Amino acid sequence: MAKIKLLPKQIAASILSADFGRLNEDIASLKHHVDLIHVDVMDGHFVPNITIGPVVVKHIKSKIPLDVHLMIEDPMKYIKDFAPYAHYITVHHETCKRDLKKVIRYIKKLGCKVGVSINPHTPLSKIYGVLNEVDLVLLMTVNPGFGGQPFIKSVLHKIKYLRHICPKLNIEVDGGINPKTAKVSSYYGANIFVSGNYIFSSKRRISAIKKLRKAVEI
Ligand code: DX5
Ligand code: ZN
Repeated sequence: MAKIKLLPKQIAASILSADFGRLNEDIASLKHHVDLIHVDVMDGHFVPNITIGPVVVKHIKSKIPLDVHLMIEDPMKYIKDFAPYAHYITVHHETCKRDLKKVIRYIKKLGCKVGVSINPHTPLSKIYGVLNEVDLVLLMTVNPGFGGQPFIKSVLHKIKYLRHICPKLNIEVDGGINPKTAKVSSYYGANIFVSGNYIFSSKRRISAIKKLRKAVEI
């Protein structure tokens, strides 16, 4: 009988909680320990916070692949500015709606892997039509906008159902991830874990990341 290949478990450090005055040093301190650097781009419209744009992203010096999470209205307008630096570009269903397939095709055409995200209270059914076209689904486990918020447990049933219908899809969880919430998300089927506040507020970041890894290896 053929062995089922398990998806690798990956840790993505969200730089939203890093010190932006010494961003490259903060990122370098995680080298060899995380799989992805998660970059939260916020516009003050789709979410009530403003962060960074391509002028900052292009100066990120990291060999760790960038996982760019666009929380912006009209992402189509800005995707090309992030594409040269990004491994993944993830857009929100809530900001694309009718255009979602077009946006997905555009990201691929620019040579990036593509993700689609939904907010905690958006039903999974809204993205059924694109599940075969994306490399990852990012399930928000907080309302997007800020780091350091508590994990919303009701998202767990979405993780479980999505894993059931898409056994080979990358499922990323983002928001309130620490060893406890990473463990339960992993149990329900997530395989990429974004963590910001937990990693960057820890005095011993590397040991914090090791704890996350241990928690998800089930
Ligand atoms: C929230 C962002 C998250 C955030 C996660 O809108 O998308 O990536 O940085 O941070 P923590 O781990 O602090 O919840
Ligand atoms: Zn994010």
